[in-house]
Amino acid sequence: MDILIERRSVRKYTKEDVKKEDLEYILRAGLSAPTARNSRCVSFLVIKNKETHKKLATIHQAAQMVLQAPLAILVVGDKNLAFQGYLPQDCAAATENILLAATAKGYGSVWCGVYSNKERSEAIEKFLSFPENIKAFSLVVVGKSDDNNPPKDKWDLTKIKYESWK
Ligand SMILES: Cc1cc2nc3c(=O)[nH]c(=O)nc-3n(C[C@H](O)[C@H](O)[C@H](O)COP(=O)(O)O)c2cc1C
Repeated sequence: MDILIERRSVRKYTKEDVKKEDLEYILRAGLSAPTARNSRCVSFLVIKNKETHKKLATIHQAAQMVLQAPLAILVVGDKNLAFQGYLPQDCAAATENILLAATAKGYGSVWCGVYSNKERSEAIEKFLSFPENIKAFSLVVVGKSDDNNPPKDKWDLTKIKYESWK
C-alpha cells in the first residue's frame, strides 16, 4: 500500500486498542519529522483517559470522534525551543508524520486542528495545565478503522505548474 497516497481521515473506530509497539513507532515517526534549525520543539501528549477525551470533545466541537477512539495524541510545541516563528510548521510536519505512521501500521487517524483557534487552544492548555511556553497545536485521534470509505483521488493537474505561474 502506498501510504502517502492512500492515507485519509478516519473518524469511526472499533474498540480495538493501539498496540504499545505500534504507538511507539507512531511517536518515533512524529519525532523524526524535520524542525527548523533542528530545534526539536515538538512533544506529544498521549491521552487514553476517557474522562479527558470527554472534556476535549466539549472544548473541540469537531473532535467528537475522540469519544470512541482508544487514544489521542496532542501535538504540542515549546515556544522557548522553537526557531523564530517556525513552531507551527514544525508541529504540522510532526502531525503529518504521525498520520502516515498510523496508516502504515494499519490504523485510521484524523488531524483535529487546534492551532490557530485561540479559544480552543487556550481552553485545552488551561485544562491540561500547560506551562506558558507549551502550545497545543493539533489533536490526532487514532484507532482501528470502522469505516469502509475509499481513499480520495486528489491528483489534479490544474494544481501543478512548471517553472513559472504562466
Ligand atoms: C489543519 C487541519 C485541521 C483539521 N481539523 C479537523 C477537525 O477539527 N476535525 C475533523 O474531523 N477533521 C479535521 N481535519 C481533517 C480534514 O477535514 C481532512 O484532512 C480533509 O477533509 C481531507 O480529507 P482526508 O484527510 O481524508 O484526505 C483537519 C485537517 C487539517 C490539515
